[in-house]
Amino acid sequence: MRNVGIDIGGTKIAGGVVDADGTILERLRVPTPTDTAALAAAVGEMVLELASRHDIHAVGVAAAGFIDRTRSIMLHAPNIDWHDEPLRAEFEARIGRPVTLENDANAAGWGEYRFGAGRGSTDMVMITLGTGVGGAVVGDGTLLIGANGSAAELGHMRFVRGGRACGCGQSGCLEQYASGRALQRELGDIADAGGIGERLAAHRRPDGIVPGRDLAMLLAEGDAGALEAVRRVATALGEACGAFQAVLDPDVFVIGGGVAELGEVLLQPTRIAYDTSLPGFGDRPTARFAIAELGNDAGLVGVADLAGLRTV
Ligand code: BGC
Ligand code: NA
Ligand code: ZN
Repeated sequence: MRNVGIDIGGTKIAGGVVDADGTILERLRVPTPTDTAALAAAVGEMVLELASRHDIHAVGVAAAGFIDRTRSIMLHAPNIDWHDEPLRAEFEARIGRPVTLENDANAAGWGEYRFGAGRGSTDMVMITLGTGVGGAVVGDGTLLIGANGSAAELGHMRFVRGGRACGCGQSGCLEQYASGRALQRELGDIADAGGIGERLAAHRRPDGIVPGRDLAMLLAEGDAGALEAVRRVATALGEACGAFQAVLDPDVFVIGGGVAELGEVLLQPTRIAYDTSLPGFGDRPTARFAIAELGNDAGLVGVADLAGLRTV
C-alpha cells in the first residue's frame, strides 16, 4: 500500500510517495507560496504528479496550526494567516480524491512513533523546535486529537506568567522560550551584552541571525556564549517536559525540528532541567530523551501513514 504525504513548511512544500514500512519511494519539493489559493494549487499539482506514476491508496497533508476534529478546517495558525480556512476542501477540489489533513507536529510525531525514535514506546511525546514549537502526544498507541481536534499544542502551554506575547494571541507560551526564534533571541541578547557574547557577535549576519553552521562550529569549540544560549532554551524545554510528564507520563520525549540538530548539546541541559522540575523525582521512573530520527521527512512519512490508516 502506497500513500502520498505532503508536508507544508514555512519555506517549502515537501511531498513523497511512502510505502507501508515508511520508505519514501519518490519525493518532490517546491517553495511554499504565500497565497492560500496558490498553495492549494501547488499541493494539488504535486499530488497529481506523484499519483500519475504510482498506484496511490490515500493522501495526507500536514500543516502548522489548529485543525478541527473532522481534520478539515484550519481553525487557527499562530505563524500563518489562516483563520477558519477550509483547507481539506480546497485540496480535495484540486486533487479529486479524499485527503486527510493533520497538524504538522502530530504528523511528525506519528512518523517517529511508527518508524523512528519512538518505535517500541507505548506513550510518547514529541516536541518539534522550529520557527514555532509543535507537539504530538501518543497515549497507549493512539495519537491524541482532542474533542475539537487541537490537542497537543504543547508549544502554547503557558510557561511564563505575564511573559512574552505569542502569535496565538496569548502570552508566555513555551514557543516564546524554546523555539528556533527563541534561540536566536537568546543568542542576540548574549551577543549584545558583550563578554562571553563577543565571538557570537562576530558571527551575526546583518539581519541579526547567527547561521546554524556558525553556531554548530562555536558550540564544537566550546564557546561560552553559544553554550549559554543553548542552555537557556534547553532549560525551558526541560522544565516544560517535567510538567508534561506530570500530565501525560510518557516513556520517551522525542525532540525534533531544526533546533534538535544540535543533538546532545541540547539534550544534556534539557535532561538536567527535566530532572530538577519533575514532580516526585527520585521515586518514579523517568522518561528517556531522544533526538528525532527521521529529520525533515518525519512529517511527510507520518501523514502518509495516518492517511493510509484513516482511509478504508
Ligand atoms: C503551531 C502548531 C505547530 C507548531 C510547529 C505552532 O506555533 O501552533 O500547530 O505544530 O507551531 O509548526
Ligand atoms: Na500538535
Ligand atoms: Zn502561544
